[in-house]
Formats: sequence, structure tokens, C-alpha cells
Amino acid sequence: MILANDKDALRVVMRGYRSNAETTAFVPTLGNLHDGHLSLVRKAQDVADRIVVSIFVNPTQFDKAADLADYPRTTDKDLVLLKEEGVDLVFLPSAEDMYPVGSAARVEVDGISDILEGDSRPGHFSGVATIVAKLFNLVQPDYSVFGEKDFQQLMLVKRMEADLDFGIEIIGAPTARESSGLAMSSRNNYLNTKQRNDIAPKFHAELQKIKYAILEGNKDFLSLQSTSINYLNQQGFKADYIEVRNAEDLSVASAEDKDLVVLGSAWLGKARLIDNLTVNIGLPKGEDG
Ligand code: PAF
Repeated sequence: MILANDKDALRVVMRGYRSNAETTAFVPTLGNLHDGHLSLVRKAQDVADRIVVSIFVNPTQFDKAADLADYPRTTDKDLVLLKEEGVDLVFLPSAEDMYPVGSAARVEVDGISDILEGDSRPGHFSGVATIVAKLFNLVQPDYSVFGEKDFQQLMLVKRMEADLDFGIEIIGAPTARESSGLAMSSRNNYLNTKQRNDIAPKFHAELQKIKYAILEGNKDFLSLQSTSINYLNQQGFKADYIEVRNAEDLSVASAEDKDLVVLGSAWLGKARLIDNLTVNIGLPKGEDG
């Protein structure tokens, strides 16, 4: 496994892959890797000859300085995991390399950046779009894999890729879950054992409850949302939002929509959990994912 600590080193290796006509798949990460990240790597291995992973705690996507400072950095352990998975190249740039003094350009994806996660975390999606665009320009992969757990991020990246003509196939990978149903996330490490095992799984269970209610024909989305928020708050969460949206464009869901997504975010202690479930009303029961 090759480590590239700066842009020049990365470019040299990528040029080599291209000159050998090898296809490449890229998995960008913030590090602190878990099985969810490794499932993205495996998805990448299904499609390309060479797998490139970046580990970069991107300062511009953190809306709170304390959150950036506290974000767990576990690079040595991450590199062991990536080597075991057979990753070819890991890009580990410094913040100075990615954002040299004076850097001022930003990528904005209008509309989608301001709702849901963007509403709760101002500036977050501008930071994500900017770093992903920079990484795409540097790596120039054929494919790039993103987790469906961050549904809105995946949608934003697809929009940006299409609008800026990167020519990269964006692949979504299913959310990896703990056996309790809790979506895997580096932020789960902020939970204590009781929160993680007994309380946090109720968040996913609530999204499932909404999904099944919709599949049973309940179209009173506002009431489903507020019932869930009240329940979660009684269980010790501080719900940020629970929303039923159109899965194509994240607009507020109407009773006529067939492709829906139930998205949620809730604080539990020091962890901000996010999760989502898609609901396809058109498909026969049990085949809606
Ligand atoms: O999802 C993440 O881990 C980050 O937002 C990403 C895509 C690596 C950009 O920093």
C-alpha cells in the first residue's frame, strides 16, 4: 500500500495507474475508520482495478471549532485496516496542503445545501462540496463511493459531479449497521455503553416505524414526524429533525409521491446521530428495501 502525504506524490501514482490503463475507484474519508468505511472500500473493489482512499479531517465542513478539535484522529489504526483490505493508495494531505494561505475558492451547490443537515449545520455542505471537488480534481478517479447513510451528502455529490462535468461515476453504498440497527458512524464513539446499546437503536427503530406506517397507507407525514420527535425526546434524545421527503429531490413529500425517504437527526448525549430509510410505495410489500 502506497502512502501519499502530499498532492505531488498523489499525482505521480495516479499518473502511473492511468498510463497502465488501470481503472480507479476513490473513497474519501475523514478517518477514524469502522466497518462502514470498509464496506465502501469493498464496493469500490467490485468496480475498479485500483482503490484510492483519502484520510483528511476537512476543517471547512465543521461548523463548530470544538467539533473539529474533538474529531477522533486514529491514522495508524486506519492504515492497518486499509492495508488488510488491500487498498492500493492512501492520500493523507495536511490542512496546509489542501488549503494554502490565501485559498479563497469555494464550491456551492444551491438549494440542497440549505435544507435539513444544511439548515442545522450552516456552511457544512459548502465545505463538503469544496473538498470533494478538490479531491476529485486531484485523484481523477473513474468511480467514487459514498455511503447512503449521508443521503443528502450523496445527493449533493451527484448533483455537483453532474453540474461540473467531472466524468466520475458516483456509487452509493448501503448503510452499514450494528446488530441493533444503529447506523455505523465514527460519532457513535461519543456514546457511553448504555446509550449505544439501549437508547441509540431506538432512533433507527423510529424511522422504521414511520416507514412501515407509510407502507400501510398512512400519508399524514406531519403527524408521523411529530409523534416520532416527541417519542425520541421522551427517550432521552434531543431530536433535530425527522422528515419524510421526496427521495428524488428532497422536497417536502406530498401524498402523491411514490419514492420517499425518511430522514432524521437527533442528539444523544455528545453524539449527533443521523440516519435515513427509503420508502418505495410502488413496490410490493417487502421489496421496497
Ligand atoms: O462523509 C465524509 O466522511 C466526508 O464528508 C467526506 C465525503 C470525506 C468529505 O470530507
